[in-house]
Amino acid sequence: MTGRGDIVVLTGAGISKESGLDTFRDADGIWARVRLEDVATPEAFARDPLSVHAFYNARREGLANGGIEPNAAHRALARLEAEWPGQVLVVTQNIDDLHERAGTENLIHMHGELLKARCGACGDVVACTGDLSTGDACGRCQAPGRMRPHVVWFGEMPFLMERIYEALGQCALFISIGTSGNVYPASGFVETVRLSGAAHTAELNLEPSERAGRFAEAHYGPATDVVPAYVDKILSGGW
Ligand code: APR
Repeated sequence: MTGRGDIVVLTGAGISKESGLDTFRDADGIWARVRLEDVATPEAFARDPLSVHAFYNARREGLANGGIEPNAAHRALARLEAEWPGQVLVVTQNIDDLHERAGTENLIHMHGELLKARCGACGDVVACTGDLSTGDACGRCQAPGRMRPHVVWFGEMPFLMERIYEALGQCALFISIGTSGNVYPASGFVETVRLSGAAHTAELNLEPSERAGRFAEAHYGPATDVVPAYVDKILSGGW
């Protein structure tokens, strides 16, 4: 089948794995070492902000100074955006900055960004490449102790959902890459696309995800193999 039109790409931790960043639910993943209830909820931050800051400070340090670079899968998606005649929107659940560093411009970080901090009092968002601490005051409203990672925790609303659903409703192709399909609302995007009409759907992952059966097409293997190959296929004639 050959198709043309707008493309929405959803990415998850699997696309950054070969850059050296851990996934969450694999055997060696982050949630095998830390309880998400202890570090990734608003309640955890209220209860023990030092531990939450320590968790994100370590991840921020690893991303900013750990020699982490975009890989061939990130670069292939940037090429897709540059060369595809329609619109390509990348919606990522990842809080790393590897898509933008690879050159993707039309990008939504639905779960926020690790290299930014936000004031819980006035909402100001600022760049943040170092450590956050409970002693930090907001540079805008001066509120003390309210600076937090600019990430979406469990129980909070992901960013820009209206724009995402609009794009899902209009796309001709939806591609899901490197996500286990465990976390709502991203896990429901394939269903949204299926219900909204004739779009083609493809899963690219190391192994079948929780939602594998909902996709029309699937390619399994490391993202640095399957994503460039799929992008080549799309650019040489659609799907
Ligand atoms: N190439 C492709 N896929 C891979 C690779 C790889 N090299 N390595 C692992 N994967 C796949 C795994 O098989 C798994 O299906 O990536 C997926 C990663 O799943 P999760 O660890 O659950 O990550 P993700 O789906 O992004 O998690 C969603 O959960 O805790 C939260 O907020 C966090 O954004 C995250 C959300």
